[in-house]
Amino acid sequence: MTPTVSMAGLKALSDSFESRQPQDVLAHAIGTYFPDIVLASSFGAEDVALIDMAHRINPKTPIFYLDTDFLFTETYETRDRLIAKYGIAPIQVKSLLTPERQAEKFGDKLWERRPDECCNQRKVEPLARVLKGYKAWITGIRRDQAPTRANAGLVEWDQKFELVKFNPLARWTSEEVWTYIKLHEVPYNPLHDRNYPSIGCTYCTRPVQPGEDPRAGRWAGQAKTECGLHIK
Ligand code: ADX
Repeated sequence: MTPTVSMAGLKALSDSFESRQPQDVLAHAIGTYFPDIVLASSFGAEDVALIDMAHRINPKTPIFYLDTDFLFTETYETRDRLIAKYGIAPIQVKSLLTPERQAEKFGDKLWERRPDECCNQRKVEPLARVLKGYKAWITGIRRDQAPTRANAGLVEWDQKFELVKFNPLARWTSEEVWTYIKLHEVPYNPLHDRNYPSIGCTYCTRPVQPGEDPRAGRWAGQAKTECGLHIK
């Protein structure tokens, strides 16, 4: 499909943000696309910082989370603390398959046998469905999280889901995210204080050891580093 905006225009815009702050990217994104823009939140560190920033720009900015049915209790508690503090109403997006139906269709413990298919059913298909209702989305990916994200633009055309993608934190380090969270007293997932730098589903996330890569706890033991949300 042909993008609704020019690639060259998006690239120039992205480049112009290289010397700016995440809040500038967000203000432009929300100012240009609201109400057809949505913030994707897993309620991890990056996303809670973005929720705080977006709330200061436009408290009505739509937010959704992919509820895989396999999220940690602490993740739901973090969602609820954010709702209480900001008065936001994150949209819950679920797979069309209940966990029971998934087990009937694909067999038990799909996440162990075919993690890609499990992510597909529980995250990628629901994401594609929700994004159809918007012209742009905002994510918390950062360049230094993984080699697969090293070239992430501050603004991009998302070819997979066919809409504009803003990655306001692309240039930030984890330290900058945490400085922001502490400075603004943003509620965050307490698992981060228990050696879970990156948090996904219960079955596929474990704590990391000192010195390990921050994403080593995601799909540990599997030849997999991305779930398909951010693959070009
Ligand atoms: S993942 O692809 O490996 O799961 P990661 O956990 O690093 O991604 O999160 C990167 C960004 O993807 C988040 O900042 C958020 O924008 C989006 N994201 C990841 N998981 C979810 C989710 N469950 N719901 C909504 N957005 C998500």
